[in-house]
Amino acid sequence: MPTSELHIVILAAGKGTRMRSSLPKVMHEVAGTPLLGHVLDTAISLQPAAIHVVVGHGREQITERFSHASINWVEQTEQLGTGHAVQQALPGVPDDADVLVLYGDVPLISVATLTPLIEACDSFPLALLTASLTNPSGLGRITRDDSNEVTGIVEHKDASAAQLAINEINTGFLCAHAKALRGWLDKIDNNNAQGEYYLTDIVAAAHAAGEPIAAHQPQNNDEIIGINSRQQLSEVERLYQTHQANHLMASGVTLIDPARIDVRGSVSAGQDSIIDVNCVFVGDVKIGSNVQIGPNCVIRDSEIGDHCIIHPNTVIEQAVLGQRVNAGPFARLRPGTELEDEVRIGNFVETKNAKFAKGSKANHLTYVGDASVGEKTNIGAGVITCNYDGANKHQTTIGENVFVGSDCQLVAPVVIGDGATIGAGSTITSDVAPGQLAISRSRQREIDGWQRPVKPAPRDK
Ligand code: UD1
Ligand code: MG
Repeated sequence: MPTSELHIVILAAGKGTRMRSSLPKVMHEVAGTPLLGHVLDTAISLQPAAIHVVVGHGREQITERFSHASINWVEQTEQLGTGHAVQQALPGVPDDADVLVLYGDVPLISVATLTPLIEACDSFPLALLTASLTNPSGLGRITRDDSNEVTGIVEHKDASAAQLAINEINTGFLCAHAKALRGWLDKIDNNNAQGEYYLTDIVAAAHAAGEPIAAHQPQNNDEIIGINSRQQLSEVERLYQTHQANHLMASGVTLIDPARIDVRGSVSAGQDSIIDVNCVFVGDVKIGSNVQIGPNCVIRDSEIGDHCIIHPNTVIEQAVLGQRVNAGPFARLRPGTELEDEVRIGNFVETKNAKFAKGSKANHLTYVGDASVGEKTNIGAGVITCNYDGANKHQTTIGENVFVGSDCQLVAPVVIGDGATIGAGSTITSDVAPGQLAISRSRQREIDGWQRPVKPAPRDK
């Protein structure tokens, strides 16, 4: 465990000109979460004493979006460089703390990579995260002396030809003792190709002061990719999704095509579940074992029990499904849907705030909202619970073993007793007692001598 209090500084003041967007760069999303949100999640899981986020461009939008989080917002009114940005946060950091610098536009950095970097600060006043890249173009290069000690960082635009040949680059991530960092930052200037106060100049300052400098490498070079353009945004999205797909497969799930699944949140799944192509999972989704999910399903914040079959093109939101439930194709399970074991919901069925007890069915073209359906009840094709009177919602209660014939309207509030039967085409406006047959349709008539109209014969011209 690190000995000093950890303070995390996240740089997020830049404009992101190359995104060509009115949205601040760190508000662009990977997997449905703003870039800064990913970095904050990682920062929070490191359990720091405080998180300081340096904002400038689009400050209001950013602070409003993350107003729920416990963050010390620091304003950098002019973007004078990364060194200047860190300096703005230091008044909120005690001298004896360790400072970890993260970037709002580098979302894939992991706790596994950052932990050894932070631990290095127990023995070193400055620890850098560096990486060796085959194409280091544009990035700061790490300079070392004959004994391989880090001596400094030179920015691409300031580098000599010999320095440009160096493959070890500065990822930007570093951890430093707060008091020492303050001292080094006080010494830097902006006499360089970009006229900026470079954070990277603290490395030469530390070396000049005779301080040893640690250099760690990330678990995976994908973690250090920063986003400057929409193309990089899409590349990082794919990397993130590949990681999610690999994680699911490692836990025993078959993905028909790991390149065609999108996870925008977290999904857990039991063994031997199979997910077909183009499924999107949003929020917190829990899938049991031996579940089959057909192509083109969207599932958000839901639980799906063992052995369920979700047929193609089904949308499930905030719903809980027991075991051996069948849903779809083309079903829409809306928030508040609870399906007990062995329920069947078929094509073009919409449910909302609806509880279906074990073995009940609504197989075709139905709307069931604000309702409870008893065990083994069958809801016929085209049935509608009329739950809304234009102002208020009302409840429909349907008992066990009820048979609701096709094309009925159940006008809520209404209670259908156990074992009742509703004749097809009925509009039910009052309660039906258990075991009764209720029919509200008009009697069929046959009209003698009725003739179908005919078109008049065309007149001669
Ligand atoms: C920086 C490093 C470089 C490293 C690279 C890795 C410096 C001087 N250089 O270069 O060595 O290889 O990152 O990607 O640090 N920011 C602010 N305020 C500012 C300036 C920047 O908040 O005044 C933020 C930006 O929004 C961005 C981050 O700091 O998130 C990095 O700034 P950027 O200008 O992209 O630095 P690079 O030139 O990429
Ligand atoms: Mg950059």
